[in-house]
Amino acid sequence: MSSRRQHWFEGWRLFAVLALILAGLCIWIAGMRQFEVDGVRMVIRFTARTSLLFFCLAFSAAALARLWPNAWTRWQRRNRRYLGVTFAASHGIHAIAIACFAIMDPAGYAAATSAASYIFGGIGYACIIAMAATSFDRSAAAIGPRAWRILHLTGGYYLWFQFMVSFGKRIPDMPPYALFLLPLLAVMALRLIAMAPKQTPRTVQAG
Ligand code: HEM
Repeated sequence: MSSRRQHWFEGWRLFAVLALILAGLCIWIAGMRQFEVDGVRMVIRFTARTSLLFFCLAFSAAALARLWPNAWTRWQRRNRRYLGVTFAASHGIHAIAIACFAIMDPAGYAAATSAASYIFGGIGYACIIAMAATSFDRSAAAIGPRAWRILHLTGGYYLWFQFMVSFGKRIPDMPPYALFLLPLLAVMALRLIAMAPKQTPRTVQAG
């Protein structure tokens, strides 16, 4: 028997349940506004926030398991791939809602976006697609561990930066948006602390 305790809520089943819940909630939210543009914009904002949650869970998993090894952090570390793919699904819905917004209200959409949002958001989506596509055993093996590590490390840091900018730029108009930066700063701090070399106890010289 494996020494690692396996739970029901693990792996691809975890992803399937979370993705279904997300999709259901998005339909419900859009339905509350009769599937009009207001509802679509609510879905864009909702999925930006659920993406933040799953991104932070995946991005902090290794650091947390290293700093505080316990049942929860080990579960999070084991399921980091599936939490990451759930983040990609959440952002997939963000993209679908963005497309609906552009079709339903072109003027409002143009006012809400800029060249910068296409460039930086586009790079963000390229990272998400590449990272999700290499989150399967076969595709990960195909690119090799070195390329996989470089892709997932740079992609992760880029997405962290993208979240900081996307939430941060709204703070002047809506100061409570500063709260969204707290989990982002916390996961970065955790990663930096976990990366710091462990202090080895100094041997006391006798005499
Ligand atoms: C080309 C790609 C993208 C486009 C065109 C885009 C478009 C949009 C639009 C139009 C909104 C505002 C919705 C509204 O005010 O009703 C929005 C919100 C947001 N997006 Fe995206 N987005 C893109 C990619 C991304 C990426 C890659 C991220 C993060 C990794 C991201 C994170 C956010 C955040 C944090 C918000 C604010 C949500 C809120 O108000 O709570 N977006 N996006």
